[in-house]
Amino acid sequence: MSFSFNPQYPTVAELRIRAKQRIPGFVFDYVDGGCNEDVNLHKNTAEIRDVELTPYYLSKHSGSDLRTELFGHVYDAPFGIAPVGLQGMIWPGAAEILAQAAHAHNIPFVLSTVTTSSIERISEITSGQAWFQLYHPAEERLRDDIIRRAAAAGCPVLVILCDVPTFGYRPRDIRNGLAMPPKMTLRNMIQIATRPNWAWRTLVTGRPSFETLKPYMPKGLNLKNLGLFMNQMFSGRLNEEKIAPIRDMWKGKLVLKGVASEADTEKAIKLGLDGIIVSNHGGRQLDAGESTIKPMTRIAAAYGDRITVMMDSGMRSGPDIARTLANGAAFTFMGRPFMYGVSALGKAGGDHTISILKTQLQQVMEQICCETTGNLPRHLITKPA
Ligand SMILES: Cc1cc2nc3c(=O)[nH]c(=O)nc-3n(C[C@H](O)[C@H](O)[C@H](O)COP(=O)(O)O)c2cc1C
Repeated sequence: MSFSFNPQYPTVAELRIRAKQRIPGFVFDYVDGGCNEDVNLHKNTAEIRDVELTPYYLSKHSGSDLRTELFGHVYDAPFGIAPVGLQGMIWPGAAEILAQAAHAHNIPFVLSTVTTSSIERISEITSGQAWFQLYHPAEERLRDDIIRRAAAAGCPVLVILCDVPTFGYRPRDIRNGLAMPPKMTLRNMIQIATRPNWAWRTLVTGRPSFETLKPYMPKGLNLKNLGLFMNQMFSGRLNEEKIAPIRDMWKGKLVLKGVASEADTEKAIKLGLDGIIVSNHGGRQLDAGESTIKPMTRIAAAYGDRITVMMDSGMRSGPDIARTLANGAAFTFMGRPFMYGVSALGKAGGDHTISILKTQLQQVMEQICCETTGNLPRHLITKPA
């Protein structure tokens, strides 16, 4: 398959600007925003960019290879698409568009419990290669049923989430009255009217809904009670007692996402998990926390030989991915860059965003004479304390 690269938008920053012009303001706010004062949102990217790499120009170099093995699968690049909720509200069909692109590029796509496509549909699109992220259901029966469906669909990796014990304080979403489906305030209606392409496509594609959760929702649930029902259905607070039965039940690889400390890493190892994603949810949960590059670097150095240490939050380019891998991450994930891409370019957006990141990463690796992604740590310049 040939991949498309749109030279008008060679960076994720340009896709973000285009996305803002194409989707209603309350939708852009939902994707783009962090929490509280957005301190961690900005630190995530800024502190990754403090990392410097050294080139070894005179070394023998036979070309750079982005292929990276993770959990027994050789992916074509060391990055994947992080789980994002409500994707079909951001751009109609976004979950399917991104799953297709990820599959074509042979990189992992992680489906969120609360997005707008089902486990079964995404598994069909990705020939059973997609990962699934589970929000922890309050009831064991529901938990078991969703896990059974993920296993039946062939998901190789189950991702459980520990960084949403309570919902993030997100001023933009509070102001916008963000709900599923969005509240039709006059302000939101004006924003929709000024984005006719989004409005028309949303109309044609049909109202987005929580497809994976549909079988558990009471028929005819009115909009007023939907939020209440979702709050009752999920209890995000995870602990060791809740993880242990999932480990027993799930035969595939099990990954804990949202880890930000050595203490939680040790618990993950003790519980027999296969990997962790050091993440702060893209700066959407704890504004007073560290950016992810800091704990990831410490955790990878101390525990990287006992558990697979991955990272998300803040990467926006190939150089950012290279910096993160140089600091010890085995693999990386991104959320917003792909949502900007699809919002900016529709169907072509998934493919284009992946192509930008691959091209940029290839360029950095060629530039510093690094042949494999596993060799990136050799190029890390240790900063003076
Ligand atoms: C709009 C939006 C919705 C998200 N929804 C989920 C979700 O449903 N489940 C989840 O595990 N993480 C969710 N995340 C967090 C992402 O998986 C990921 O951790 C984060 O986007 C990484 O930061 P980045 O956007 O800077 O790459 C969401 C992030 C965004 C931006």
